[in-house]
Amino acid sequence: MLKNLFSLDGRIALVTGGSRGIGKMIAAGLLAQGAARVYITARKAGPCEETAKQLTAEYGGECIALPIDISTMAGIDRLAAEIKQREPKLDILVNNAGAAWGADFDEFPESGWDKVMNLNVKTPFFLTKALAAPLRAAASAERPAKVINIASIDGIFVNPLETYSYAASKSGLIHLTRRMAAKLIHDHIVVTAIAPGPFKSDMNKAARDHEDEVAKRVPAGRIGTDEDMAGTAIFLASRAGDYVVGNTIAVDGGIVYANPGIPGAGWDS
Ligand SMILES: NC(=O)c1ccc[n+]([C@@H]2O[C@H](COP(=O)([O-])OP(=O)(O)OC[C@H]3O[C@@H](n4cnc5c(N)ncnc54)[C@H](OP(=O)(O)O)[C@@H]3O)[C@@H](O)[C@H]2O)c1
Repeated sequence: MLKNLFSLDGRIALVTGGSRGIGKMIAAGLLAQGAARVYITARKAGPCEETAKQLTAEYGGECIALPIDISTMAGIDRLAAEIKQREPKLDILVNNAGAAWGADFDEFPESGWDKVMNLNVKTPFFLTKALAAPLRAAASAERPAKVINIASIDGIFVNPLETYSYAASKSGLIHLTRRMAAKLIHDHIVVTAIAPGPFKSDMNKAARDHEDEVAKRVPAGRIGTDEDMAGTAIFLASRAGDYVVGNTIAVDGGIVYANPGIPGAGWDS
């Protein structure tokens, strides 16, 4: 029983935003642990198909590109229909696709609010709802299905960057994770979230282009790696994580929970 605790042998998974960055790290991790098929989505078809080809060549299972914009209800329904047409059961859904927007408080545009809230909060809810049938079909008490939402440490602590809708969206997603978990656990679908700290990506250009600078602000002294992200996703997706329900795991080298803070600022100092 303890031998294959982290195995994902034969699992069917969907990772939204799997063409690059954190989604790609997770898709690779699921395949490395034996997932049979991992579907990845993105808006741009070329990079999505390129990543699918690369991951299929690298691992035993198959990675399949479904390039669809999931920021609208029409896109969400199209993606769900594509999955349901191909798979009667879906073991793992990773709601990873996300967007950010930064602007001064006095200039912050409504478009930067709606774009971020729609993709980061509305889409995970309605995509999970649209895929409830294949998730329920895959789920049993012995082997629950998994929904893993990719939040952010910006939803836990206050990032000084003026990314108002992003912070609200990620905090909202963390609480939505708890609320959905409380409902779906009764169908043996386990909902959890990961709150990443800095990982190299197009979204986090600071971590990608100024790694040493960013690492100085991380208690662990480094930014996150593919292994850090894949490892947590594999844990939550596999038998090893079955009893973790509604929780959000910060994968951040200690930024949120192991940060000594500003000397002299505490009430008891
Ligand atoms: N990197 C970090 O340090 C960090 C830290 C905390 C949280 N996160 C979270 O991790 C997740 C992934 O971020 P990342 O850093 O890997 O960002 P990224 O490099 O920008 O990747 C985002 C992925 O989502 C896809 N995507 C974006 N909009 C989409 C849409 N409307 N429909 C379908 N796919 C879409 C992108 O492909 P297309 O552009 O082709 O659509 C891409 O595959 C996000 O939720 C982000 O908030 C990241």
